[in-house]
Amino acid sequence: MNERFAPQLIAWQRRHGRHDLPWQASRDPYAIWVSEIMLQQTQVETVVPYYQRFMARLPDVAALAMASEDEVLALWSGLGYYSRARNLHRAAGIVMREFGGAFPREFDAIQGLPGIGRSTAAAIAAFAYDERRAILDGNVKRVFCRIFGVEGWPGEKAVENRLWALAEGLLPDTGIAAYSQGLMDLGATLCRRGRPDCVRCPFADECVANRQGRQAELPAARPRKALPERHTTMLLFVHAGEILLEKRPPTGIWGGLWSLPECSAEADPAACARRFGFETRPLAALPKLTHTFTHFRLHIQPQPLSVARRPARLNEPGRLWLPLADAGEAALPTPVRKLIEQLEAGGGPA
Ligand code: ADE
Repeated sequence: MNERFAPQLIAWQRRHGRHDLPWQASRDPYAIWVSEIMLQQTQVETVVPYYQRFMARLPDVAALAMASEDEVLALWSGLGYYSRARNLHRAAGIVMREFGGAFPREFDAIQGLPGIGRSTAAAIAAFAYDERRAILDGNVKRVFCRIFGVEGWPGEKAVENRLWALAEGLLPDTGIAAYSQGLMDLGATLCRRGRPDCVRCPFADECVANRQGRQAELPAARPRKALPERHTTMLLFVHAGEILLEKRPPTGIWGGLWSLPECSAEADPAACARRFGFETRPLAALPKLTHTFTHFRLHIQPQPLSVARRPARLNEPGRLWLPLADAGEAALPTPVRKLIEQLEAGGGPA
């Protein structure tokens, strides 16, 4: 099986794989880099419009390096995992300063850039330079665990090491781009996490999971720990059709994004508003919202408040009054965007 795996996969990719994704039109390492970062933890259908907008606005490393972090985050807004955008921006600066503006050709240099791990570096090297390197993202891990019957949770170091060894051992001598794309395509289109389409899979006869009917058990799930729950109240201060935003600290969740002022879930929102220097009256309530992060679940109680008078000090650093209608353009976390849209749709804020 192991010797036949790569040629079979390449043949399948050529016939049944994806060939018209926007980043496949290019061998430009910059274009491939941007696509691979966006495709980390995010599905192709979601990425495509973001990718096109990003490339139209920032077509090369120099443009990315010159852009402000705020602009990069605004182009990323809605994709989530914003450290990807901050690292991409930071890496562009490094490429300009340390590599004379040309994306590095050396694998170790690629892997040394912020936000680029072993698998992403390998994907860039394979697609841009036809270099024989093993990829191993979440989808590929699932494909290998099922076909080769790899037991254990892939997040565990020992299991991951086994998967890397397998990935290295299966590499073809030629056709690395079609092979790598084939792994990704198989994982995304047939060997899906739920309801895999084994009937159409070229490896159905050999696949351990399929033969044993264990598609739902392979790969093994992360040992379950309940996600911690956190609660917060988000204050939607509204004045003359504008809303007050605060810039998040550069690190941590939503780092560098514009978000809403918050107060503790136990505090009285009106009292909290006075600490911001505002006299307010409550506006019609908005529904509660839950947002799940990798490490905790955040319950958001929104509190719209009409601000009677805006204090004389206008936009202090890290604070911004934004017309509600302009929220679509700003670098906002998805739940904040949703709340502002709901507020706007609710009509006539004071
Ligand atoms: N997932 C990660 N990289 C990908 C790519 N180049 N094409 C499709 N899906 C991907």
